[in-house]
Amino acid sequence: MSSKLIAPSLLAADFGNLQRDIEMVNKSDADWFHIDIMDGVFVPNISYGMPVLKTIAKHAKKTIDVHLMIVDPDRYIKTFADLGSDVLTVHYEASTHLHRTLQAIKAEGMKAGVALNPHTNVILLEDTIMDIDLVLIMSVNPGFGGQSFIENTYAKIKQLKELIIRKGASTIIEIDGGVTTANIKALADTGADAFVAGSFVFKSSNQLKAIKDLKAVANS
Ligand code: DX5
Ligand code: ZN
Repeated sequence: MSSKLIAPSLLAADFGNLQRDIEMVNKSDADWFHIDIMDGVFVPNISYGMPVLKTIAKHAKKTIDVHLMIVDPDRYIKTFADLGSDVLTVHYEASTHLHRTLQAIKAEGMKAGVALNPHTNVILLEDTIMDIDLVLIMSVNPGFGGQSFIENTYAKIKQLKELIIRKGASTIIEIDGGVTTANIKALADTGADAFVAGSFVFKSSNQLKAIKDLKAVANS
């Protein structure tokens, strides 16, 4: 892939000024909006749900990349399609019939993603990779923003890239958690295509510049 994609995570946005933060992403160099949905069961935290996503979708002018950290995600595939999701990612660990889930996501007109927790080996995607548009490699344990990046992520990107090439798949690789300008180039060089960034963007005093810097360094 030529241009690396930047997906700011609104989990770290200021919810008192949500529209302002969405407009910031609209006019930035970012490619996608990353939306973290947590249910307090699959992960220990609860983030936000449908009414908030509806508001985000009303103002967002870029691809909406939804990351479901919920048990039994099949229950909500149609709901998230109707809310305006373009990419819908479910967790491997939360999906009993992953192949069926992927087809259901595509049947609703969305790109189908699969997220892997840090302990989940990429080889488990051997039999489904041709059906997956995006693999999201968690580079922290899911549930919270602002955690430290797990170094084993590089090995996982390499293994996944090998699998994609070996199978002739067109799956893209997204990295989520602890992404900064200090590691984004190495991650891109290892084979990642898209990068989620929450704290690095929204805790910055110059958010537009933070996004611009991520994009520039990833593509350097
Ligand atoms: C964590 C979420 C991430 C989170 C990333 O469970 O999936 O998308 O917002 O936040 P940072 O970039 O702060 O690690
Ligand atoms: Zn996420």
